[in-house]
Amino acid sequence: MKFSADCDHVVVRVPGKINLALRSGPRRPDGYHDLVTIFQAVSVYDNVRAEHAPPGEISVEVLGPKAAAVPTGLANLAGQAAARLAAWAGAEHRLGVRLVIEKDIPVTGGMAGGSADAAGALLACATLWDLSIDSARLAVLGAELGADVPFCLRGGTALGVNRGDQLTPVLSRGTYHWLLALDEQGLSTPAVFSRFDQLYPRGSQPLKAEQSICDALAKGDAEQLGKALVNDLQPAALNLRPDLWEVYSSGLELGALGAVVSGSGPTIAFLCRSEAAAIELSVQLSSEGLGHNLRRVHGPVPGARLLI
Ligand code: C5P
Repeated sequence: MKFSADCDHVVVRVPGKINLALRSGPRRPDGYHDLVTIFQAVSVYDNVRAEHAPPGEISVEVLGPKAAAVPTGLANLAGQAAARLAAWAGAEHRLGVRLVIEKDIPVTGGMAGGSADAAGALLACATLWDLSIDSARLAVLGAELGADVPFCLRGGTALGVNRGDQLTPVLSRGTYHWLLALDEQGLSTPAVFSRFDQLYPRGSQPLKAEQSICDALAKGDAEQLGKALVNDLQPAALNLRPDLWEVYSSGLELGALGAVVSGSGPTIAFLCRSEAAAIELSVQLSSEGLGHNLRRVHGPVPGARLLI
């Protein structure tokens, strides 16, 4: 496929994700964990804008309230994505890009914000630079940058195995309404996996997909999905941040169909019966002084897409 946009800049919109199920094996010799996970892309987005820069120059600027917490330049995964793509094209000295990321996906929130920006940068640069590269190759380059990048490119609902980077689409009917309880502090993914190793040195036994989640998604049954949500990293995340228990259990008591820590956390995702139920839960949690930063989203939504 030839990505091409006949203009001086492109903008790609890319969603964050939550994990409806995340099962993890023990740490592998390469430091990663074998995962069996079911991703759902949800309606919180970063925009990645790419414009031409002098040959060989790659810069990354981040905009948004949490911009100061995000690295710039080649320290940012989006910058690395651009560099990797230019190298793949054999044109590192000829291609340049100025990337500007408008950040709305929570930073270190367990929603693949960094991977989303890398996915956005890959698609934006492939288009800006007019490269002949197919989606499968883009996903391979993405997986070298971060385990969640292939899913951020694709979006929707998918089963991820290996490091979570080998994807198979999952049939999903209907739209699911979530209330996200975001957290100011963030959690480091490597730190959560390390605590998981301490708590469960042998990982999940056996490591397999959650059939009840696939059944619920195929039927569009939010109630069944709520009961089936599962995340092996949740005990590790809550062990590191026991203060999150209060909002987690309150959301369930107040009528959420289910609750799960998203990925390595600390974002907590509450599944709600409807958009109105998500608004109601948001009002109730706020009135109890819980969840200072609540956000309603829905899923599944498509992955990285060109806006211009
Ligand atoms: O691939 P990514 O850079 O997003 O992963 C961040 C960190 O999360 C890794 O360095 C590793 O510590 C941990 N991780 C893991 N197993 C996975 C995915 C991530 O241990 N399957």
